[in-house]
Amino acid sequence: MSDPLRLAVAGLGTVGASLARIILERSDTTATLGKHSLKLQAVSARDATKDRGVDLAGIAWENDPIALAKRGDIDVFVELIGGSDGPALESVEAALRMGKSVVTANKALLAEHGNRLARLAEENGTEIAFEAAVAGGIPVIKTFREGLTGNQIERVFGILNGTCNYILTRMEDEGKPFEEILKDAQDLGYAEADPTFDIGGHDTAHKLALLTCLAFGTEISADDIYLEGIETVTLEDIRAADELGFRIKLLGVAQRTSTGVEQRVHPTMVPKSSPIARVSGVTNAVAVDTDLLGQSMFIGPGAGGNATASAVFADITDLARGDRVPTLGRNAEALKPYTRAQMRAHEGGYYIRLAVKDEVGMFARIARAMADANISLESIVQEASIGERRGDRQSQPDDVKTIVLITHQTTEAAIRKAVTVVEEDGGMVGAAQVIRIERLD
Ligand code: NAP
Ligand code: HSE
Repeated sequence: MSDPLRLAVAGLGTVGASLARIILERSDTTATLGKHSLKLQAVSARDATKDRGVDLAGIAWENDPIALAKRGDIDVFVELIGGSDGPALESVEAALRMGKSVVTANKALLAEHGNRLARLAEENGTEIAFEAAVAGGIPVIKTFREGLTGNQIERVFGILNGTCNYILTRMEDEGKPFEEILKDAQDLGYAEADPTFDIGGHDTAHKLALLTCLAFGTEISADDIYLEGIETVTLEDIRAADELGFRIKLLGVAQRTSTGVEQRVHPTMVPKSSPIARVSGVTNAVAVDTDLLGQSMFIGPGAGGNATASAVFADITDLARGDRVPTLGRNAEALKPYTRAQMRAHEGGYYIRLAVKDEVGMFARIARAMADANISLESIVQEASIGERRGDRQSQPDDVKTIVLITHQTTEAAIRKAVTVVEEDGGMVGAAQVIRIERLD
């Protein structure tokens, strides 16, 4: 066995502390996996005195992660600080310029700077491994970079944020509002340092941007993603979905169309009978439709210290074996520019919830607005049943009624046109709630 692979870990929070413990506890086992055994050489975090539940005696400490990245006695720099800029970006750039291999779980960093960092890695004869950046512990990056190379991919979709799925699942199971459940997700180490990245859909968008790049061979383009988070999903929507045979999930979807690749992140109604509807709690799922394989789905823990450290560890093991793959699956100059398919052209079914004044002709005016936009309705439910029966509509006055529409396949442009007409009618109370329905076959 040759010299050990010397590791530097920057960031000793939820993921970094788990990783350090696993490296220290399992270094004997790992010696048999690759050409090199592993050695935790040096670490960095902000507070050198914090108890991290792992014995770091004898391991070099750096206050500055950039100094850590530049140390001459390390081979691999593992970035687990987080954030798209600041110390995470600067330390990764420093490590790449020194020709070190980089391992990171930082999807925000790669969604923002991945194209440039991949080129920087190539210029310096090295690479970035990022299995933990998408879908936590599930080996999806390996699957896309190495396992699907012969396939033409038509669509990738999935539940990519553990925090949101945990919140939506508990809202459905326990009837609690999401603010109450978010605190538990933070305590369990699932949420980002700033949890608005989770609930606003940004974290899902960062991950989707990376999957789109790997699936379609295009440059990473996170700014081109249509984005809605789960903040506006209410218990009333969850109950209505349940009665109509759906569950609500925050999905990231990237789909090839005739005009480009559609990338979108939004709460989505999925049929209860679909496999993805049954993915609950912090669990993530990534599905891919390809010409050779049909549909495959990968399911597993999407967040948390051990699950994420498992994926970081797998990347390190690949490096110890000498397995090296170009950062974005192919050389950076071989990536095609990303062409955005316009969201207004998106086709699908829709759920529309309207709170309207209980007045004569309201129902007919809503139906007319839909017909004028060429929207065919699958069902209209006036909600004496949904929600009200279960006491969810606490603050709604008696003269306001909830109407839920389910449409057949139509376009986003048609829905926006019809909803604008209904909202301008004067009979509505508040804004319409619109949730897309996804065909999953
Ligand atoms: P975290 O618990 O907030 O830990 C961040 C660590 O970075 C802390 O140890 C902190 O030091 C250190 N740090 C912050 N600023 C620093 C600086 N200027 N210099 C040196 N160290 C600094 O975050 P995390 O949950 O472990 O996440 C780390 C990364 O993994 C993020 O990119 C995140 O998106 C990604 N990720 C997380 C999960 C998850 O389930 N948590 C899953 C997948 C990917 P102190 O401890 O001293 O404050
Ligand atoms: N905050 C992220 C999530 C961590 O909840 O999925 C895993 O990337």
